[in-house]
Amino acid sequence: MQEPSSNPPAAVSRRQFLRNSSLVAASAAAAVSFPSILHAQAKLPIRAVIVGVGGRGSGAGKNFEEAVKLTGVDGKIVAVADIFPEQAERASANFGVTADKCFSGFDAYTKAIAEPGVNYVIIATPPGFKPSVFKAAIEAGKHVFTEKPVATDGPGCRVMYAAGELAKQKGLKVAAGTQRRHQAGYIDTIKRIQDGAIGDIVALRVYWVNGGPIWHYDGPHYGERMGDTDLEKQINNWYHYIWLCGDHICEQHVHNLDIGNWIMNDHPVKCWGQGSRQQLDGKSGEIWDNFDVEYEYPNGVHMFSYCGQIKRTGSPGVDEFAHGTKGWAKPGSSIHAKGEGAWRSSLKLQSGDPYTQEHIDLINAIVNDKELNETKNVTDSTLTAIMGREAGYSGAWVEWDAILNSKFQYMPELAYENSAKMQFGPFRTLKPPMPSMHDIFKDPPMVPTV
Ligand SMILES: NC(=O)c1ccc[n+]([C@@H]2O[C@H](COP(=O)([O-])OP(=O)(O)OC[C@H]3O[C@@H](n4cnc5c(N)ncnc54)[C@H](O)[C@@H]3O)[C@@H](O)[C@H]2O)c1
Repeated sequence: MQEPSSNPPAAVSRRQFLRNSSLVAASAAAAVSFPSILHAQAKLPIRAVIVGVGGRGSGAGKNFEEAVKLTGVDGKIVAVADIFPEQAERASANFGVTADKCFSGFDAYTKAIAEPGVNYVIIATPPGFKPSVFKAAIEAGKHVFTEKPVATDGPGCRVMYAAGELAKQKGLKVAAGTQRRHQAGYIDTIKRIQDGAIGDIVALRVYWVNGGPIWHYDGPHYGERMGDTDLEKQINNWYHYIWLCGDHICEQHVHNLDIGNWIMNDHPVKCWGQGSRQQLDGKSGEIWDNFDVEYEYPNGVHMFSYCGQIKRTGSPGVDEFAHGTKGWAKPGSSIHAKGEGAWRSSLKLQSGDPYTQEHIDLINAIVNDKELNETKNVTDSTLTAIMGREAGYSGAWVEWDAILNSKFQYMPELAYENSAKMQFGPFRTLKPPMPSMHDIFKDPPMVPTV
């Protein structure tokens, strides 16, 4: 199943924007102060670049442009970067970027980030490349919007945590593509849950199921090319390689795991899981297409997580549930306290959709110098997913500290040091993991290749 549409929202009138913003402003995370944005804009033009201009990068660029319109700041996209030239060229037409500002190749991101005046970097590459691009953007002093998930292994998450800290020290703002955190219904409902509306939390259930098989490109995908080298072929079909995608639990289910972490204001300390590769069997690639994982938080609360890319009827779809001593809740919309009628969030209307709101919130934080750094949240949720994945792959309990400090790197050696130096060439393909035969914590790690 593809993710919810990343299309730009229908046009929102300025009056509606103000009204919706003030609704959203009732919640902590999305306070939009329109006049101060107008006041500040003269001082700070926003010049953005997009790194990774596929489906989501293009969508995020349009969301940024919509946010610019709604906030009234002086902002535009001035360069794009993609590993494949065809993708960069297509984006040039989409965003009116001149051909000399459309960069391609492994080092494209360094060139786009170095463009004069750039202060806003949108990162929408496959997950594995995000740590190196994010680190480069922060080191260069840029504000960042990064899509989720932000890494595919422990070493990548450590790069993210460190760069997130550096962003804090430099006063840089970071928003992440865990868009539920910018969605009025979630902000409103989770605040009530945290304030005790359903008593003490006793369990959480999170789902990304029912979607059917994900895309699979064994043939040309980007432009006319398929590529001759392993790296080119794998990047062309990136969802199916652990180093690029992180597997389904990381790539998409991270959204739902993030809700559990948000409610608990923490991350799990350990987990156990299982899963398999059923519909993908016989196709190229490494990943599984279903996982069930049981996570435990420090206070003993368990989160039950289910994700799969197998069509099923009658399953819970993409959703989250919280259970407490005084009732239960759907964190995106409603509270069902025992003995009381259902409460539903009325803050459904907000300024555009959550994808645009992410950029409104980031722009607002930049021009008003308000704190916004979502690096730790999105990295915690990414690592939660990675921990669940490795529990499934290995067939053993995995602890947070073990995954956080894990040495095994799915990404190629150079990737975190400087992915700009990478070149297309040979690369290993792993055998789809089999519990008890795939274990990154063994010394040496057990990761059979094809
Ligand atoms: N928040 C959401 O709801 C949401 C929705 C869709 C996608 N996403 C995320 O966005 C990211 C991209 O997904 P997509 O669907 O756009 O995939 P995509 O394949 O359509 O686009 C990825 C682009 O990145 C380019 N790329 C690959 N490696 C690169 C590198 N090293 N440097 C620069 N460019 C590189 C590819 O050529 C491609 O153009 C993923 O992390 C995905 O999880 C988030």
